[in-house]
Amino acid sequence: MGQSLNTPMNIGIVGCGQIVRAYLATFPALDAVRLVAVADIDTARAQSLADELPGVRAMSVEALMSDAEVDLVLNLTIPAAHAQVALAAIAAGKHVYGEKPLAATTAEARKVLEAATAAGVIVGCAPDTVLGTGTQTARKAIDDGLIGRPVAATATMVVPGHERWHPNPDFYYTPGGGPLLDMGPYYISSLVTLLGPVASVIGAASHTRSERTIGTGPRAGETIPVTTDTHVTGVLVHESGALSTLVMSFDGAATQAANIEIHGEKGSLIVPDPNTFAGSVRLRIVGSTEWETLPDSAGYSGASRGVGLNDLALTSVGQEPRAGGRLAFHVLEIMESVLESAHSSRAVQIASSCDRPPAVPLTQPTVHADAAN
Ligand SMILES: NC(=O)c1ccc[n+]([C@@H]2O[C@H](COP(=O)([O-])OP(=O)(O)OC[C@H]3O[C@@H](n4cnc5c(N)ncnc54)[C@H](O)[C@@H]3O)[C@@H](O)[C@H]2O)c1
Repeated sequence: MGQSLNTPMNIGIVGCGQIVRAYLATFPALDAVRLVAVADIDTARAQSLADELPGVRAMSVEALMSDAEVDLVLNLTIPAAHAQVALAAIAAGKHVYGEKPLAATTAEARKVLEAATAAGVIVGCAPDTVLGTGTQTARKAIDDGLIGRPVAATATMVVPGHERWHPNPDFYYTPGGGPLLDMGPYYISSLVTLLGPVASVIGAASHTRSERTIGTGPRAGETIPVTTDTHVTGVLVHESGALSTLVMSFDGAATQAANIEIHGEKGSLIVPDPNTFAGSVRLRIVGSTEWETLPDSAGYSGASRGVGLNDLALTSVGQEPRAGGRLAFHVLEIMESVLESAHSSRAVQIASSCDRPPAVPLTQPTVHADAAN
């Protein structure tokens, strides 16, 4: 291990909307990070949040970027602002960890990674769910050879759309949103963790309705335009030769399909929902008629949103964090390429690659289970 980063690392949050609550619930239990400041373009929103948090200062976005106490900017803005906020933080010499996706486009994301490399700062990105016991136990089962050589996977997510519960769902229906860019990061980060990087993709997609109606909050009943595909399917050809089939949809009620299944020459695995940290991993060996539940054998136990930030703060200088920018870039390029393939009706080669992030050994709670989101 090289030199450690400053820990506890002082965190300044930019973006105080819906998801900030999940991070705030986790913060008290994260030993390597400390929240010191919050900001939002809606300054009143940042102030009212700081009023609830003793010792945490509300400030303008610009002031937070240049604040000497802040080591890392936690970017919880909407996808269209991810790159702009990350670039401002990097320009100020801060490390950044952002909500997914890394940026709305790979062109923007590339600028973020290049600027960070030039500045010598670290980029981390959600999702960190795949560091929990669910995906990590499945990974260990694969690495231990329990299913033999992995051959294929399926990843399925079907919901009616986030306008039913989110008070400001506009960003889910613009480029950078849609079921693929919104939920794909969980599924594809899990697939890359389990099966390794992707070499090429084919996709097909549909854009079923031109507007959606907000179902909750002060804007309930308002219609918003839809400018992105809302049902996306694809096949990811992993560098290993394994084939993953993806279905990401805001156009159905629900699905009973397992969130992720991995099939190998000796057996099949059911992997828990990658939008959660834990859950049962089930194994069925060829020739058996039973699914066996595997005990948790790897991953952060009792984890919740923010554990990837803590993991980043424990990363040595020069190392890529597990929930790192390179993985997030690769995942973004895969998603963008699935959509490109859907619109061109041609397979698309993936230019980027990444290492599978280092496995997480079974680690007892760094975060409280009751803070799970
Ligand atoms: N809502 C969820 O349940 C959820 C779950 C997982 C991940 N996420 C991700 O978290 C991110 C934020 O989602 P949300 O639901 O909290 O959105 P939101 O719209 O509720 O909140 C976003 C906040 O960012 C602020 N903001 C926007 N642009 C800004 C800028 N340029 N500078 C400073 N502040 C800016 C907005 O004023 C708002 O307060 C998204 O990337 C989303 O994909 C959300």
